[in-house]
Amino acid sequence: MADYVVTPWEVKGSIDYEKLIKDFGTKKIDDALLKKIEHVTGKLHYMLRRGIFFSHRDLDWILKEYEKGNPFALYTGRGPSGQVHLGHLMPWIFTKYLQDKFDVELYFQMTDDEKFLFGQVPTLEESNSLAYENALDVIAMGFDPDKTFIFTDTDYAKTLYPIAVKVAKLTTFSTAKAVFGFKNETNIGSIFYPAMQAAPCFLPSILKGKKTPVLIPAAIDQDPYWRITRDAAPKLGFYKNAAIHCKFLPGLGEGGKMSASQPNTAVFTTDPPKQAGKKIMRAFTGGAATVEEQKKNGGNPNVCSVYQYYRVLFEEDDSKLEERFNACKNGCILCGECKKELAKRVEKFLEKHQEKRERAKKQLDKFMVKD
Ligand code: TYM
Repeated sequence: MADYVVTPWEVKGSIDYEKLIKDFGTKKIDDALLKKIEHVTGKLHYMLRRGIFFSHRDLDWILKEYEKGNPFALYTGRGPSGQVHLGHLMPWIFTKYLQDKFDVELYFQMTDDEKFLFGQVPTLEESNSLAYENALDVIAMGFDPDKTFIFTDTDYAKTLYPIAVKVAKLTTFSTAKAVFGFKNETNIGSIFYPAMQAAPCFLPSILKGKKTPVLIPAAIDQDPYWRITRDAAPKLGFYKNAAIHCKFLPGLGEGGKMSASQPNTAVFTTDPPKQAGKKIMRAFTGGAATVEEQKKNGGNPNVCSVYQYYRVLFEEDDSKLEERFNACKNGCILCGECKKELAKRVEKFLEKHQEKRERAKKQLDKFMVKD
């Protein structure tokens, strides 16, 4: 039995990503595929170079189609259950890079229905209003306003529902139980919900009146949805949806992913920057018990949440990252100093993000689509 859990609703324990690839039946992004991506895009994005995006479904096919002149659309999303945290930004940063590189459309789903049905938000009205709050963070990422379409499930239901119904008819309860672990006590809205998350995979084809490849960048927790969608696709006359999966940004504590349910170890985009800085200063590190010991034996960046933040979000320069890694291992940099510098970077990032978020309020209408 694995001592970790990865489902769309729960991520815990120390994740063996290689094993997850086998269990989920996805493919590793290997050197050959990295070479192909590099050939098409030029220098690899740091999230690919560092194995942060590590797994995929049919990404090689997406690239081939693109080269043949059959461009793909991007699809990703957010379950609006509270404020956005830095972990959520990881796939969005990469999605923005893909949009810029390939100059393609992005369909962004806000699942207000999901968060209500699964009980993370007490009322549907509240999750719907959180969707519009979270959309400000999405817009603040700098997506192309002419090529990006953000929608909430309830406000775009007239368009999404007919697609969802067709997926739902092809998905049996026994499959849904096996994939999602639904039980007799599960409410029937939750059982139908996966069909709603499937719908945007086929939306570009329907809107364009032409079969369109779709690539989904997201963390690997969302993959179970893509399995049932891929099974339904050929029967409905669509291409199978492709996906590219990232690992999880850890929380600031010891182990576990960044999660809104643990607000002290998560940095939210709406946190006052100084408060976020304080959270960083309290983070779990790979430091030794005493300063003397650390100077002598060094720290362990491999288990350090602070090092992970540099690696995943706050140090794009590979040689500077390596310098930091070595300085930690050799005891040349102490945790206090390393945390202080990260806190500064996080505060600066939040200040800028919050300004963009404020400006996004005026752009909401340009990005949001409704029936
Ligand atoms: P949600 O709101 O849980 O997460 C939004 C996106 O963030 C990813 N994610 C993380 N990535 C890295 N580190 C973390 N600690 C972390 N926590 C969350 C998620 O994988 C996701 O990409 N059901 C979905 C909403 C949705 C969706 C989609 C997501 C609808 N359609 C298409 C991705 C793609 C949800 O609740 O996401």
